[in-house]
Amino acid sequence: MSATSLDQIVSLCKQRGFVFPGSEIYGGLANTWDYGPIGVELKNNVKKFWWDFWVRNRDDIVGVDASILMNPKVWEASGHVSNFADPLVDCKACKKRFRGDKLLEEKLGVEEIAGIALVDVTPKLLKEKIPCPDCGKCEWAEAKQFNLMFKTQQGVTEDSEREIYMRPETAQGIFVNFKNVLNSTRKRLPFGIAQIGKAFRNEITPGNFTFRTREFEQMEVEYFCAEKDWQKIYPELEKASWDFFKKLGIDEKNLRWRQHREDELSHYSKLTKDIEYKFPWGWGELQGLAYRTDFDLKQHQKFSGESLEYLDTETNEKFTPHCIEPSFGCDRTVLTVLLDAFCEDDVNGEKRTVMKFAPEIAPIKVAVLPLSRKEKLTKKAREIFDILRMEFRAEFDETQSIGKRYRRQDEIGTPLCVTVDFGTIGEDNSQSEKGYVTLRDRDSLKQEEVEIKKLPDLIRAKLKI
Ligand code: GAP
Repeated sequence: MSATSLDQIVSLCKQRGFVFPGSEIYGGLANTWDYGPIGVELKNNVKKFWWDFWVRNRDDIVGVDASILMNPKVWEASGHVSNFADPLVDCKACKKRFRGDKLLEEKLGVEEIAGIALVDVTPKLLKEKIPCPDCGKCEWAEAKQFNLMFKTQQGVTEDSEREIYMRPETAQGIFVNFKNVLNSTRKRLPFGIAQIGKAFRNEITPGNFTFRTREFEQMEVEYFCAEKDWQKIYPELEKASWDFFKKLGIDEKNLRWRQHREDELSHYSKLTKDIEYKFPWGWGELQGLAYRTDFDLKQHQKFSGESLEYLDTETNEKFTPHCIEPSFGCDRTVLTVLLDAFCEDDVNGEKRTVMKFAPEIAPIKVAVLPLSRKEKLTKKAREIFDILRMEFRAEFDETQSIGKRYRRQDEIGTPLCVTVDFGTIGEDNSQSEKGYVTLRDRDSLKQEEVEIKKLPDLIRAKLKI
């Protein structure tokens, strides 16, 4: 990413089918976004990459997929009913509502505002003369705590209806299954449980495209250990978290760690460090690494009456495990990947937009393009496409000029294009040799002639997959 503006990304996303505004034909629903045909491939690849990194390639982490709707007692136990709130401020002039700490953060920076007490929010807004983003006046009412959990009802008749919550984090689905996983897998400490899934928060000020929305996906690991081991394990997970973004292809210059100050820590955490990305509007949280102590398991033991203790068979000691949590936002990771991959260069005096995704997460790995729509050519190109699509996520495109098709593939980040011309079918020896196609590299723009039968091996080697 260079000086990419968010508008450029939003516009490219819509045009090329990465992300569309939600419910658009009805005038939209504010801050909802739908992944399109290319976006869903990218997001699925990011999720697979994460799952391979944290679950498949490790012996010590297993996965679950828990329900979004949970017994409401879960949220009393976890502290979300009493603590999961943001400071809401009303503009007395236009009656619009905002998140007070975010208005302050925009002017004074995240470090200055992190952990600000509720009573200090309005005085600081007035002292700093921060205007209402909507009407421009500076007339703020006293800040109030606003609980972010979405409520809904379960049950079909009025008297059986029960108020429940849409989960605001996937983590609790892991904690309540701790005993089930322990008993069914016979894992020994230290070990982790991972989950990818939707979470819902009634955010006061969503915005910045998919950065902050009310419905989003998380990718979380709860890593359980004995209390004595957490200080040793925390740096290991810190390194793994950083390596995840590095392997995903994010430029390390755009990443940094930021440790939470004590007064900023969530109610369950003793130590939290965030990986932040340099977004076009400033540094923003991508992932949190929180030492949650034994808070969650102890609370669930208390509220459910079930023992969640662990027996160390070597020492015969029984204790409640402690937990360290690497928690990633999936949509934020996808947004980061989009911003970081966006490049503009100059090709023969023409501006080219290219998404330089790492091959593993590129939505389409290889495009097969017949030079023209002549049947003889498209037939041969289809044959090649049918071979390649068995192994690689491939696309066949015969519409428009070859230049426009290359441009589209660059904009959706396809690493390789295979062009089939009249030489390929032995009808023009000024083009490719018979039985050969042209392989074009997205980043270097180098084109090489390749024998058809050698294509799969070469593509595999170039994509390193
Ligand atoms: N279980 C811990 C937890 O939920 P969090 O810092 O509130 O911690 C974890 O959320 C990650 O989820 C964040 O780092 C961020 O990437 C993502 N996230 C949180 N709120 C979000 C929102 N409203 N929209 C999109 N992503 C969000």
